[in-house]
Amino acid sequence: MTPDQIAAVKNSFALVAPIADKAGLMFYAKLFELDPSLRPMFADNVEEQAGKLMHVLAFAVANLDKADTLIPAVQALGARHGGYGVKPEHYGTVATALLDTLATGLGPAFTPEVKDAWIAAYTTLSGAMIAAAAKA
Ligand code: HEM
Repeated sequence: MTPDQIAAVKNSFALVAPIADKAGLMFYAKLFELDPSLRPMFADNVEEQAGKLMHVLAFAVANLDKADTLIPAVQALGARHGGYGVKPEHYGTVATALLDTLATGLGPAFTPEVKDAWIAAYTTLSGAMIAAAAKA
């Protein structure tokens, strides 16, 4: 990721942070609409799950420029996801749901540059998670 992309992800995430709960719920509604077969993988309480996701996204966004901190945490997260039954192809569905949530939450602030920056960030995170799950 370029420094400009890191700044774009951080600045746009700061805009979504005040509506994090709503954004989290929007994300899961979109994810289960895209692939209803994913719903049984998650606990009944999606509110709690939404909170965890936003929490980890906040951590990831804050540490995008600190690979030494970020990568080990993301690898451990990826290995746990293998245990949840998550397959590499599921990461694409999550990417679509995430980008859709950002588009709705950010409105006009979701410029093509911001979108590309989020794709770069998600590709880095999901790549590390998938590789760690394969090794676990
Ligand atoms: C960058 C991508 C992702 C992030 C940041 C993320 C984050 C999280 C976090 C923080 C948890 C809480 C438990 C833990 O820390 O181990 C979790 C659980 C979970 N995630 Fe993800 N996740 C991602 C991708 C995915 C994908 C692609 C799937 C597949 C559909 C998925 C399915 C699950 C499931 C099934 C659980 C356990 C839910 C439960 O126990 O109810 N995640 N995720």
